[in-house]
Amino acid sequence: MAPPAALSQAPQVPGAVLDHIEEPLFGISHIGTDVRNVWYPIAIEHEIPRKSATSRAMGTRLLGEPIALYRDETNTVRCLADRCPHKNAKLSVGRVLDGKMECFYHGWQFDGKTGEVSHIPFLLPDKQTPPQAKTKSYPCVEKHHLIWVWPGDVDKADESLIPCYPEWLDKRLCFWGQTTEMPIDHSLWCENLMDIAHTPFAHDGQFSSRQDGKPLRYETKATKTGLFVDPQWAAEMRKDYPLKQTMEWIAPCTNIVRTTSKSGRMLMLCFYSIPMAPGMTRHIFTMYKDWGYPLTWINNLLAKTPLNHLAQLANQTIPFQDMTAITGIMRNIKEGAGYLSVPIQCDEMAVMYRRWHGKAFHKDVWWKGWAGNLDIEDLTESVGHSCFGADSCGQYERDITHDPNNAQPYIERWAKVHHKPNPFAPTWAGQAALLLSAGALGALGAVAATRLAKTA
Ligand code: FES
Ligand SMILES: [Fe+2]
Repeated sequence: MAPPAALSQAPQVPGAVLDHIEEPLFGISHIGTDVRNVWYPIAIEHEIPRKSATSRAMGTRLLGEPIALYRDETNTVRCLADRCPHKNAKLSVGRVLDGKMECFYHGWQFDGKTGEVSHIPFLLPDKQTPPQAKTKSYPCVEKHHLIWVWPGDVDKADESLIPCYPEWLDKRLCFWGQTTEMPIDHSLWCENLMDIAHTPFAHDGQFSSRQDGKPLRYETKATKTGLFVDPQWAAEMRKDYPLKQTMEWIAPCTNIVRTTSKSGRMLMLCFYSIPMAPGMTRHIFTMYKDWGYPLTWINNLLAKTPLNHLAQLANQTIPFQDMTAITGIMRNIKEGAGYLSVPIQCDEMAVMYRRWHGKAFHKDVWWKGWAGNLDIEDLTESVGHSCFGADSCGQYERDITHDPNNAQPYIERWAKVHHKPNPFAPTWAGQAALLLSAGALGALGAVAATRLAKTA
C-alpha cells in the first residue's frame, strides 16, 4: 500500500534499535499495516451540531488531510475535504444551508454525499458548472455514539468493518466521551497509553502514586489486530486491590482498558489517538460503565452546552501531565535523539508497537523532518482550541497547574472568540449552574480517580 502523501515525505531514517530488550519478543507481522483503509472515529456524536437554521460544520484533519463534517437536512453526518475547489477556502468555516455545505467565501454550495457543487451564485445563466467544481467526499457513518470516517479507497469502505464490542451494545451501560486536539505526535500519545510505568510518577497523586513504582513483569501477547497485556499486571502492581484488568492496543490507534472490580463493577475506557497531521493528534476518550449514572447523565447534558469546556477543563490535568513529557520527547527527537532508546522489560508492549509503527508509518516518527505544508496557523488553531485561547499549551499548563482559578481569563477569552455565553458571567443562574456543574464534575472526577487509582 502506498503511504499517505504526507507520510511519504518523512525521511527513511531507521528507528532506534529496539533489539536489546531483555525478553524474547514475538511475531507481529500479521497485524495489518494499511493505515488508510480503516474506519477512524473522528468525533463524538454531539460534536457535529444537529440540523438548525444556523448549523455549522466541524473542521479537523485525518492523516494530513483537512476534513469538514456536518449534518445534512436529514441529520445524516457528511464528511467533505475541507477545501473549496474554487479558491481553496476552508469549507468548515462556512454554514450549512438546506442540507448543503456553503462556502464562506463566495457561497458555492456542495452536496455532502457526492461532494458536487449544487449552486454557484455568480455563475452566468448561459454557463455550465465547471466539471472540476467538486470536492472530495469521504465515507462517513454514525455508529456507537461516534462518527466514523474512512480515508481510504471508497469501494473498500465496508460499514461492517466498524469495530463493535459487547459493551457498546449493552444499553445498561452509561456512556461518556470527550475530544481534545493536541500538538502531539499520535504515535507518542498511543505509546504513552500503553506505558504503565509512567503513571506512578507522571501522575503521582492523580490516579497512581510513587509507592506503586516497583518491579513489574508486563506480559504482552499479540492478537489478530494488535497487542494485549496479561490481566495479571494490575494485580501485581496493586496487590491491595484485587481486580481484573486488561489492556489492549488495536491497530492503528485504539487503546482499550477493561476493568472489573471485586464487586463486579465494570469500566471500559477507549482511547483513540487519531493521526491528524505530523505533530497533531485528535484524542477521543470514551467511557462505558455500569455505575455513576446520574453524574454521567449530567455530564452528557453539559456536553451539549458551553459548559462543556468546563468539563474539558476539569479533565485536562492528566492529559497535560502526559503532554509535558511528550512535548519534551518530541523536542529531543527533532534535535536528533532516538525514541525508546533503552527499553526494559515493562516497555515490551511499546517496543512491539514501535516495530509495527515503523512498518505502517515508515520507520520513523512520521513528522520527523516532515517538509509538508502544515502551517503554524493550523497548529495555533489546534492548541488554542484545546487550551481556551492560551498562547501555547505550555503557558496554559503552567498557569493552570499553579492555580486552577487562572483558567478563568482563558474561558472568558474563549467565550468571546466563539460568541458563546461566558459561564463565569456573574449572574445568579450562571453561578448556580457553575457550582452545580463543578460539583458534579468534581464528584465524577473523584469517583473516576478513585476507581482508576484502584485499577492502576
Ligand atoms: S473559495 Fe469557496 S466559493 Fe470561493
Ligand atoms: Fe499518562
